[in-house]
Amino acid sequence: MLKGEFMRKGSSIPAFTLFATIVAAFGGLLFGYHTAVISGALLFLENVFSLSIFEQQLIVSTILLGALLSAIFGGSLADHFGRRVTLFLTSFLFIIGTYLLSSAYSIFELIVGRFITGLGVGLASLVVPLYIAEMSPSKNRGMLVSFNQFAITIGILSAFLINYGFAREAGWRWMFGLAFIPSFLQLIGLFFITDTPSWFISHGKRAKAYNILEKTRKVRKDEEVLADKNISRKEAKFKHLFDKSVRPAFLVGVGLSVFQQITGINTVIYYAPRIFQLAGFETAKSAILATLTVGIVNVAVTILALWLIDRIGRRPLLIVGTLGMAIALAVLGIFFAIPTNTGFVAVIAVIAYVCFFAIGLGPIAWLIISEIFPLRVRGRAMGVAVFSNWFSNYIVSLTFLTLINVLGTSFTFWLYALICLIALWFVFRKVPETKGKSLEQIQKFWIKR
Ligand code: BGC
Repeated sequence: MLKGEFMRKGSSIPAFTLFATIVAAFGGLLFGYHTAVISGALLFLENVFSLSIFEQQLIVSTILLGALLSAIFGGSLADHFGRRVTLFLTSFLFIIGTYLLSSAYSIFELIVGRFITGLGVGLASLVVPLYIAEMSPSKNRGMLVSFNQFAITIGILSAFLINYGFAREAGWRWMFGLAFIPSFLQLIGLFFITDTPSWFISHGKRAKAYNILEKTRKVRKDEEVLADKNISRKEAKFKHLFDKSVRPAFLVGVGLSVFQQITGINTVIYYAPRIFQLAGFETAKSAILATLTVGIVNVAVTILALWLIDRIGRRPLLIVGTLGMAIALAVLGIFFAIPTNTGFVAVIAVIAYVCFFAIGLGPIAWLIISEIFPLRVRGRAMGVAVFSNWFSNYIVSLTFLTLINVLGTSFTFWLYALICLIALWFVFRKVPETKGKSLEQIQKFWIKR
C-alpha cells in the first residue's frame, strides 16, 4: 500500500481522492439540508411575515425552480469551465442564499434567498456526482459517488434535528443560518482540490491530467481517460445527446432520474408526519418522532448501500430496491383500505419503503447518471437527467395531496406501487451493470450495442 492510502479489503483509496470526495459531498449535504429545513422554518415564517397560502407555497417551491434552472445551464458550465469552477459557483450560491434567508426582513428577500439556494442545490446535484465519478478508481466508484447520497441523507436528518432543536424559541434564522458552516467548509476545501483528469484531457491538458491520475488512482496513465484525448471542446453540443451511440444511455439516465422521483420518495420525506397522522398518530410528538425515524433509517441504510454497491453491483440493488418499495407501498395501501388496522403496520410499511429506496434508487440513480455518458457530452447529458429529476420532484410534490383527495389514500399508494413495478421492469430491461467497469468500458458498451 502506498503512503496516504486508505485500505479496504482488496482495494485502497488514495487519500487525495477521499479528501476530494468529502469536499465535493458537502454540496450533497447542503442539497439535503436546504430541501428539508423549510418544513420547520415555515411554521414560524408564516406568523412573522403573515404569509398567505400562496406566499408559503412560493417560498417552498422557488427552491425547485432554482434547481430546475441551474440543471439547464449547469451541464454546459461543468463541461466548459470545469467541474471545480462549477463547485466553487455552487458554494458561492449556497453562501449568498444562506445569507439572504437568515437575515431576511421581507418576503421578497426570502423568495430570492430560496431561489438562489435552489440554484446551488440544482448545480450541486449535477456536479457533485460528476466530479466524484471522474476522480474515482473504477473499483471504488460506486461507494465514492454514493457518498453524495449519504451526505444528502445527513443533510436531511440534520435539518430535521435542527428544526426540532430551535422550534421552541422560533429560531428560524438559526435554522437557515447554520447552513453557513458546511458552505464555508466546502469553500475552503475547494482551494485544496483540483479538477478531474477527464476534464483536463477533454481540454487538451494532458500533463495535468496525468499528474492528477497519479494522485487519485496511483497510476500515471489510465485507459479510460487516454481514450478521450482527441475530444475537442467543439464536439460537445446538446445535439450530440441524440447521437445513436448516446441515445440509449440518455434513456437510462433520464428514466432512472424520473423513476427516482415518481415512485414517491418525497411524499414520505416531506409529508411523513401527514401520513402518520392519516394512520392515526395524532400528537405533534409522534409526528416529530416519525419524521426523525424516517431520517435516521434513511441515513443508516444508505451506509449499508455504500458498502454493498461495489460488491454486489448496481442492478441487484436496484431490483431488490424497486420490488421492495412496490411491496411496502402495496401494504401501506391495504392498511388504509382496512380501517380497523393499527397504525403500527403503516409505520413499518413506511420505514420499509424508505429502506428499499435507500438501498436502490436513492444512491444508484445519481450514481448511474454519473457513469453512463461519454465524456464529450457528460455534463450536458447529466444536466438533462438532473432537470428531469427536479421536474418530476416538483410534479409529485405538487400533486400528492390532491391525489389523496381525489383517489383516496389507498389508491394513491397503490398508484405509486404500480409505478415502482414499472421502474422494476425498466431496470430489468434497460439498465446495464456498471460495477467495476471503467467509464471508458461503459462508453464502449453503448457503442457496441
Ligand atoms: C433524492 C431526493 C430525496 C432524497 C432522500 C435523493 O436521492 O434525489 O429527492 O429527498 O434522496 O434521501
